[in-house]
This record gives sequence, C-alpha cells and structure tokens, in this order.
Amino acid sequence: MELRELPKVLRSVLTGVGGYLPERVVTNDELAQIVDTSDEWIRERTGIARRHRAAEGEATSDLAVAAASKALAAAGRTAADVDLIIVATTTPDLTFPATAAIVQRKLGAPIGIAFDVQAVCSGFVYALSVADGLVAAGRSKCALVIGAEVMSSLLDWTDRGTCVLFGDGAGAVVVEPREGEGTTADRGLLGFALRCDGTKQDLLYADGGPSSNRQVGLLRMLGNQVFRHAVVNISEAISAAATDAGVAVADVDWFVPHQANLRILQGVAHRCGIDEVKVVTTVAEHANTSAASIPLALDAAVADGRVQPGQLLLLEAMGGGLTWGACVIRF
Ligand code: ACO
Repeated sequence: MELRELPKVLRSVLTGVGGYLPERVVTNDELAQIVDTSDEWIRERTGIARRHRAAEGEATSDLAVAAASKALAAAGRTAADVDLIIVATTTPDLTFPATAAIVQRKLGAPIGIAFDVQAVCSGFVYALSVADGLVAAGRSKCALVIGAEVMSSLLDWTDRGTCVLFGDGAGAVVVEPREGEGTTADRGLLGFALRCDGTKQDLLYADGGPSSNRQVGLLRMLGNQVFRHAVVNISEAISAAATDAGVAVADVDWFVPHQANLRILQGVAHRCGIDEVKVVTTVAEHANTSAASIPLALDAAVADGRVQPGQLLLLEAMGGGLTWGACVIRF
C-alpha cells in the first residue's frame, strides 16, 4: 500500500525584526515649557519619560524604510526579495499613494503587492493578520510588515491631555512562509482576535479628512474613557486570540503590548494573570508611537536577548475606531 505523507501547513514566520527612532529626543521637561504639565505628572500617569520627534522633512516612509532595512538585514534578506509590503500607519506621507508604495520605491524593492492598513494603534496587529492571510496561502515568499508613524504631525500642541502621550517611530518585521506540522509547536503566527466598535469613534479620532473638511485634522481623545475601555476590551481579545491559537495565556513567554500607557499594560497583565516580569515595556523611551509601538518593543526585546526563537509571544493593541486586537506568535 502506498504511504501518503500527511499534508504540511504553511506558517507565517517572523524571520527578522527592526526598529527606528528619530534622533531628536523630546523630554517631559521640554513639554512642560509649552503646556501646563510636569515631568512628575507624565511619569506617574503614563510611565512616559521621553519621546522622539521626526526631523523637518523626515516622513513616515523614511522612518519605515529605516526600520525595514534593519529587519531585512536581521532576516538575511535584501529589498530584492520583498514581494509584499504592508504599512500600518495613521500618518501617511500623502493621502495617496499608500505609504507602502513609497516605501517600495525608496527601498528599491521590485514590483509586488504594497498597501497600507489603517487601524490606528491596532494597525500592526491588523497588518500582521492580513500578511498571514497572504503568506500562509503561498501568495508571498517575503513580506515586510511595518508600523510607522509621525504622530507629532497630528498633535494639538496646546492640548496637554494628548500632546504629551505620543511620539514618532517605526518598527518592522519580515514574514516568510515555512512548513509546519499544524501544531502549536510550529514557529509562526498561530492565532488572532481582531475587533472594532465604530460607535466609539468620538473617544479617539482626528478631526479632519479629505472627504469631510479637506484637512488633515488633529488628534482628539477622551483619554479617561479610552482608558476605561482598554483593559476590559484588550483582555477579552487576548483570551480569544489564545483560544484561536490553541494555547493558554499562562504558556506565553513574552507579552509584547502596544505601548500606550504603563498603567494600561499593568492593568491588562494583572487581569489576564500575566506575570509582570514577562511584560516587554518600552513606553518610557518612546511614548505611544501608535502602530509602530509593538514592533519597536519586539525589536528591543530581541536586541537585548530576552526574546528567543521558539518562544511564545502575545501581542495586543487598542486604538482609534475603537479598534483592538491580539495575536499569538511562536517566534
Ligand atoms: N499634565 C497635567 N495634568 C493633566 C495632563 C497633563 N499632561 N493631562 C490631563 N491633565 C489633567 C486633566 O486636565 C484633569 O484635570 P482636572 O481634574 O483639573 O480636570 C486631570 O489631569 C485628570 O485627567 P484625566 O484625563 O482623568 O487623567 P487620567 O488619569 O485618565 O490620565 C491619560 C490621562 C494619561 C490620558 C489616561 O487617561 C490615558 O492614558 N488614557 C488612555 C489613552 C490611550 O491609551 N490611548 C490609546 C490609544 S491611542 C491611539 O489609538 C492613537
């Protein structure tokens, strides 16, 4: 009798990570010179110590290219290998074309698929799930998933409730297909939970857009109301993503959350029973960089040797929309 091999599954494996923060650092004390705030208030309420600001003329695509180049080098790939680019951003260079198309040109990557994903701070998790759909279906051999933001361009510098919270930066991962056994021991993206509640738009939005008022708009946020939704919503998504992946939250080696506010990270970890020593926290160094914050945190933890190949990672985020979500990855 002919023995037939069991069908293998294609997994979307993260093969390289890179991050980029613009050179200019803005301290809390500097912000205290332009709005009525203090280093003490910002650190105590948010855990933020500083943020980075893009230079004049430095666009989101420039940050994205810097992060992507590092991720490609880490993966042992070059721009010539890239056939899919997804940029998660709320601060595109232009209304169109997509920042991903500009990144493709600046990287010198060949003709392939390139588009942006707009889910604000949840953008990176959303973009990873879209990349997984293409990579695991065999439609991409080498994908770049990038979170990149120049949030400083969207801030109202007279509003102390928002301007102290955000920073500029970019993070990127290379995602490639690898055969797996179809078990939770496989490396790759194992499970997702993505959510959006459009009725909560007023809690966090930009008050401009091409078809509403032909303006870019500025970020508006009812911070304490976002905060209230964050811990409950994110915790539910974490549980759903773990179920989708077939793992227990307790099995996770590293929790790599969106870096919005230290109190939210701690609240979610506590509610989900995640030990605080497993939480990767970089918010002090770069504030909330929206879609860039998860890959920036992952890059920091890979660079300092905490995150190792084969470990189980849990990513989560929440942002404007309201959108939120979580994802389980065996690195
Ligand atoms: N410095 C000093 N005082 C301030 C500042 C500041 N920078 N900002 C607000 N305050 C004041 C308020 O005016 C208020 O004063 P009042 O009592 O005299 O009216 C007081 O501090 C308390 O304000 P709250 O908004 O209730 O403060 P809270 O403890 O909730 O902290 C914060 C505010 C940090 C914004 C918090 O609510 C938060 O982090 N929310 C979540 C934001 C977030 O995570 N967003 C994620 C998504 S972002 C995205 O998707 C783009």
